[in-house]
Amino acid sequence: MEYSIKSGDPTKQRTACLVIGVHSRRQLTPPAKLIDKASKGYLSQLLKRGEMDGDAGQQLMLFDVPGIQAERLLLVGLGKAREFDLKAYRKTISGVVKTLDKGQASNAICCLSDLTLNDASLYQAVRDGVIAAEEALYHFDQLKSDAKKNPRPLKRLTLFLNDRRYTKKAQRALAHGQAIANGMTLAKDLANLPGNICTPSHLAAQAQKLGRGNTKLKVQILEERRMEALGMGALLSVSRGSRQPAKLIIIEYKGGKSGSKPVVLVGKGLTFDAGGISLKPAAAMDEMKYDMCGGASVIGTLQACAEMELPLNVIGVVPASENLPDGDANKPGDIVTSMSGQTIEVLNTDAEGRLILCDALTYCERFKPAVIIDIATLTGACIVALGKHTSGLLANNDALADEVLAAGTHSGDRAWRLPLWDDYQPQLDSNFADMANIGGKEAGTITAACFLSRFTKKLKWAHLDIAGTAWLSGAKKGATGRPVPLLSQFLLNRCKLSD
Ligand code: BES
Ligand code: MN
Ligand code: ZN
Repeated sequence: MEYSIKSGDPTKQRTACLVIGVHSRRQLTPPAKLIDKASKGYLSQLLKRGEMDGDAGQQLMLFDVPGIQAERLLLVGLGKAREFDLKAYRKTISGVVKTLDKGQASNAICCLSDLTLNDASLYQAVRDGVIAAEEALYHFDQLKSDAKKNPRPLKRLTLFLNDRRYTKKAQRALAHGQAIANGMTLAKDLANLPGNICTPSHLAAQAQKLGRGNTKLKVQILEERRMEALGMGALLSVSRGSRQPAKLIIIEYKGGKSGSKPVVLVGKGLTFDAGGISLKPAAAMDEMKYDMCGGASVIGTLQACAEMELPLNVIGVVPASENLPDGDANKPGDIVTSMSGQTIEVLNTDAEGRLILCDALTYCERFKPAVIIDIATLTGACIVALGKHTSGLLANNDALADEVLAAGTHSGDRAWRLPLWDDYQPQLDSNFADMANIGGKEAGTITAACFLSRFTKKLKWAHLDIAGTAWLSGAKKGATGRPVPLLSQFLLNRCKLSD
């Protein structure tokens, strides 16, 4: 969809639909007051009659409203003014856009973005308005042979501001919103594709496509031969049971000064996780096509970076592989040697994410990262601990952890920190190798991070476990695009560009 910013007098706007808010109880917002005046009290009479009282979620489509130029007017309830925060605003935009997309108006002017939000700036309202709109319109039907098309979809949404002075700031917010939304859409599309289409080679090809036509993006794919030469025994051991070759995707975005240390993002790109010889149960195994969501979020964030032209160096690294049972697959008890030289006893072949990540993390030492963040659908235990709302965060550096948490809160894509104390490390003891790849029943998310911490000692490192947040199950099954908003916010904050 197309977005734009406009300011002026809402009563003078020629548009297929003007979107105006009312707070409960029957409290007109400033643009609603202007329209009420121009229409000689049409809106206040309507409210008095009890057609609507402004509760959150209410919508009323009006035609032929006197005194204005718009063909229609969509009156939306915003709930109590005191409680109207960024979250409520996002939800309102989402509802509005869905109604408009189903209706007859193909363009609209929305007068909600500069209402006083008690917890957000105008920049954020505009940016998150665009993101909420794009999320509401997202659908994945590229594999349906009879995809239903809206007869008259919404094509253009104009965010209306009262005050002309903010136009420039709003324009930047709009561009950022579009970039982040596009990054999320890319991440969702890649993730929603099934394992037979989205293979490691497909992920690599999509990353390479990003690199074409953007001089600031350089994409490089390492093949298995190269991984062997580098000694990536852990990564390659996971891929051995698969007929699809593993790929190590490296996307470099050079927006900063040459020589300034990059932020490195590493995403787990397991395009299908059957568990290997430690086979998973059949129920919901299809959802393991989402085991590459960390990688998809890295690719999406790098696209967003490039689109926002951030003055920063960022490198995205995605180890991509399948994890399948096979005569040549990892067997429980096998011992593999990682690129770091540390040996690993593979007690459970389903704990494969950490095996592909540890070699990718060691590889990244060469980039001399300012900080490194890995993103992975790593443990079912994280869903038990935090549910589907919150990503798990573990880090070996407090300042970095705080920065990641703040970016999550700021973007509404929240994470919560779990401890990475040494007390947990002995759970990884092995009788036969330097470490085991599992740490037993207790604290599974923490022991997984403990495992990774043994490969990031030289780095300022944070780990996001997105097993719960990367996709939804049940009737709403689908990728969420998380944590692209958190990661984008993190990068924006690093260049002080987010307000
Ligand atoms: N990809 C899974 C983690 C996962 C499971 C994410 C369910 C989302 C939903 C990972 O590779 C895995 O299988 N982890 C095991 C680790 C265990 C064997 C120590 C798990 O969580 O059960
Ligand atoms: Mn697994
Ligand atoms: Zn996995």
